[in-house]
Amino acid sequence: MVGAGVGSAPQALTNRHTSKTQIKMRFIGIKYIWKKLSNAEFLCYTLAMTYQGVLHKYGILLDLPSHTRTVSLLEGNTPLIKAGNLSRQLGDFELFIKYEGLNPTGSFKDRGMTAAVSEALGRGAMTVICASTGNTAASAAAYAARAGMKSIVLIPQGKVAAGKLAGAIAYGAQVIQIDGSFDDALTMVIEITNKHPICLVNSINPYRIEGQKTSAFEICDVLGSAPDWLCLPVGNAGNITSYWVGFKQYNEIKSTGLPQILGVQAAGAAPLVLGHPIEKPETVATAIRIGKPARGEQALQAAEESNGRIIAVSDEQILDMQKMLATLEGIWVEPASAAGLAGLAHEIANGNLNPKGKRVVAICTGHGLKDPDIITKNMDKPLVVPPRLDALEKIILG
Ligand code: F0G
Repeated sequence: MVGAGVGSAPQALTNRHTSKTQIKMRFIGIKYIWKKLSNAEFLCYTLAMTYQGVLHKYGILLDLPSHTRTVSLLEGNTPLIKAGNLSRQLGDFELFIKYEGLNPTGSFKDRGMTAAVSEALGRGAMTVICASTGNTAASAAAYAARAGMKSIVLIPQGKVAAGKLAGAIAYGAQVIQIDGSFDDALTMVIEITNKHPICLVNSINPYRIEGQKTSAFEICDVLGSAPDWLCLPVGNAGNITSYWVGFKQYNEIKSTGLPQILGVQAAGAAPLVLGHPIEKPETVATAIRIGKPARGEQALQAAEESNGRIIAVSDEQILDMQKMLATLEGIWVEPASAAGLAGLAHEIANGNLNPKGKRVVAICTGHGLKDPDIITKNMDKPLVVPPRLDALEKIILG
């Protein structure tokens, strides 16, 4: 196995599996101390129980070819954080944030990328390519690096947040800017992979969807069932597709129920709400600045089948929610990641969704550090004081 290691992403206090595992560990520890287990047996147990990423944990439920060779950064196992301060502001309900920004490269893309790159490596591919608004690029670059493969990423010129571009470069990708949109870049990577033996790792790649299903499994494992509502941002529509497939699969095997899905687009990039492609999408949430979603049909189907919907919110609503989440809950996400919650707040305020007594999970797809400029460009410069206590007291105490 490539990439097995020790440690895991931070875990939710609410993760029942963690506490069960801890109890088991203690039990085995006690047996070990009593010399009932040999050294080798003890090591085997410890390794088997160490978190080793989504393919290791849920591989049996994922439709991946047998040639797949796991490339993992121990992605997944992200916390489901109860957001009581925010839910009290919005209504009377139970709200959880699935904080996907805590994946190894800072976004949910790592779940699908471990699957896509693992399949590509097992098949003998040498190079992966993707079009990206930034997060897919950073994720593809990291997993390709770990697998010893080359990565090429196509990004829309000047429209990718600093933390994402820096990531792709740091992980060693060949970064190419397109004088056009994400949609133009996606068309180009499809064309080139039809012509040359390069592996496409956008979410058109079915293994990306398989990997991303694991977040739905984790939510059900922690809560014991699916939530009443799931709200999330929608761009190229791979993630909404994956969640719906994942919840349906878990419901079939574990009777965990199904959520209603609220997909949220930015008003300037809302082809699924308007019902037609957008030639020049525009939004401050650059991650979802997409006019022709590759999995648009499946997104609409997920919304309809789940008795949910896809709506649009303004950039102002997105940025307001980004700020609320950070200042009320201490969770800083990039703008696109706040879109799902902004949509939820919008629907509650307009009386379209009554959350009373419901359990809602909001997917926060990427970390705030991905896009620091959105905060710093409009901020008041922090005050400068001379290095003297009286000067500091004057500022703090007035
Ligand atoms: N949130 C973030 C932070 C994203 O980066 C993306 C997509 C989405 C939401 C929407 O997910 O495309 O599956 O509907 N980012 C892609 C990228 C397009 O290239 O990183 P989706």
